[in-house]
Amino acid sequence: DKGEFKHYMLKEIYEQPDAVARTVEMGATSNDLKEEFLQRHEALLAKVRNIQVLACGTSYHAGLIAKYWFENLTRLPCSVEVASEFRYRNPVVVDDTLIICLSQSGETADTLSALRETQRRAKVGEIKGLTTLSVCNVATSSLVRETDIFIPTLAGVEIGVASTKAFTTQLAALMLLVLKVGKVQQRIEPEQLSEIVTEMHKLKGQLDRSLNLDQAIEAMGQKFEAKHSTLFLGRGVQFPLALEGALKLKEISYIHAEGYAAGELKHGPLALVDKDMPIVVLAPKDSMLDKLKANMQEVHARHGELFVFASESSQLVSEERLHVIHVPDVNEHLAPIVYSIPVQFLSYHVAVMRGTDVDQPRNLAKSVTVE
Ligand code: F6R
Repeated sequence: DKGEFKHYMLKEIYEQPDAVARTVEMGATSNDLKEEFLQRHEALLAKVRNIQVLACGTSYHAGLIAKYWFENLTRLPCSVEVASEFRYRNPVVVDDTLIICLSQSGETADTLSALRETQRRAKVGEIKGLTTLSVCNVATSSLVRETDIFIPTLAGVEIGVASTKAFTTQLAALMLLVLKVGKVQQRIEPEQLSEIVTEMHKLKGQLDRSLNLDQAIEAMGQKFEAKHSTLFLGRGVQFPLALEGALKLKEISYIHAEGYAAGELKHGPLALVDKDMPIVVLAPKDSMLDKLKANMQEVHARHGELFVFASESSQLVSEERLHVIHVPDVNEHLAPIVYSIPVQFLSYHVAVMRGTDVDQPRNLAKSVTVE
């Protein structure tokens, strides 16, 4: 039931503060991981030397963010690949790899097939010490049944075809996993773990406050309604969120959108920029902000119109062709979770203005059970 909401997607956007908080509570005390979280899998997690994430679509973008976390916080190598490529290209999987399959539904055909292919190769002795793990929103799904370890996302049923709360809860679950692996293998300092857990508990409040951006972003959306093409830019952990922002916009509003690592601008996409090109920049206050500002300057100089999601405490102010939306301050690692909200609102409102079928976009299915 949509209740007071016009669409399931909007309702599901609004459910995120609670959904993310539930997922965090599953694994965290106030400043540490719960003893029982993944306790019976500690021996498996202790021997992992390499991580391979497999997923499709929005779930793939969550995987890309987890790669930044794994490598930065635990120094374990992590690769991420769309399942439809991985399954057919005869990939190398080194011994003692943890395969992480990310899926809202747990029934995505390519993700299941990629998992089964690695399991087949482990069975014939080609890969040793393989461990498989699913992060999934449907506990009874094929994916969960077929993996050694299961971490649930506690998003509740997601009905809108465009994934929202499944994505942010995947991120919360993945951060818990990164911390667990880091702890079991003593690859993360207890102080750093404790700090991140403490910050994770603040997400509910930060997400709640981000929901207040609804109307400001609806107003901003008017500038996108008649456009044909847009760019989303980010750096570091926000780069995958730029990809996700572009996917959300294209799938429900049917406006062409591309996500780019901001540092790649000069290497091609800058040629597209003119006064008709809206460019969304994900610009939280972090170690990359100065570099990102230089990228924004490049766009501004070419008369592109910038829409910047920036931290409340940053000194960014709106000027001509530069529209700043202030997002609550958030820990650098966790920023993609909070910045998901303005990104989702933007695609939602633009789609509503364009009169598309927001919850059921043309040509798409909620769960892609054929390849
Ligand atoms: C986009 C979207 C899709 C799914 C993809 C994978 O909003 O929902 O890109 O993320 O089809 O689905 P799951 O996560 O069920 O494997």
